[in-house]
Amino acid sequence: MKRSEITGYSRRSWLVGGLVSSASLLSGCLAEAKPKPPAAASKSPIPPLPKLARALAGTHKIVPLPFKASSLHDLSEKLIQSHHDKNYAGAVKKLNDVESKIAQLPKETPAYVLGGLKQSALTFQNSVTLHEAYFANLGGTGKASSAMQNAIAQSYGDYATWEQHFQACGSSLSGGSGWVILSYDFVHRSLSTDRLANHTQTLSSSYPLLVMDMYEHSYHMDYGPAADRYVKAFFQNIQWDVVEQRLEKAKKAASALL
Ligand SMILES: [Fe+2]
Repeated sequence: MKRSEITGYSRRSWLVGGLVSSASLLSGCLAEAKPKPPAAASKSPIPPLPKLARALAGTHKIVPLPFKASSLHDLSEKLIQSHHDKNYAGAVKKLNDVESKIAQLPKETPAYVLGGLKQSALTFQNSVTLHEAYFANLGGTGKASSAMQNAIAQSYGDYATWEQHFQACGSSLSGGSGWVILSYDFVHRSLSTDRLANHTQTLSSSYPLLVMDMYEHSYHMDYGPAADRYVKAFFQNIQWDVVEQRLEKAKKAASALL
């Protein structure tokens, strides 16, 4: 699902917003309004698509940790800092690199070469998105508000049952790699808990609310192979206020979409 579709923006409102907020976007929109003559475009080895160029700018920035790396309970500063600075930041750099490569492909590039790069771009983009959501939903007290517990209970019977289910999904990835995500499912207008074996298995038409990294780099430094202990530590540090804000945004988006 496109970002503009998730946020409920129409194409027109997206363009208007872009015109107001960004000079560079303004020039891009004007370029779209006045396409170059075909003769000039045909001489370029790169497809003359301004929208494609913006989408593949390779300018993603590393988002700082939203909390002190030393402030979490039972997750060490060294682990959190390494996870952010090496694994997450590495994904941002790889995403920028692969986008730049795609943007500069000559016209005669074989389709399989483009296919491989596009697969890598999707993997790195999802890794970046999920890592940013993961760090943003850490740094809290681990105590869900009654409103959030009630929202979960509507889909899972009661909060405790869902917590066991979510944690069991995490344990099922022990020794492997992936993510566990509580998301808002726009199709069924309910919550969903999903187990991802890699970066690209997210539920279609969903918005992530609570994201738990289960790649070994997220816990092995502190807990070795004891993934269950990491899952318990993760729950002690959930920033539920952020999760609740995401749920409210998802409900508004659902109302606009459906
Ligand atoms: Fe990670």
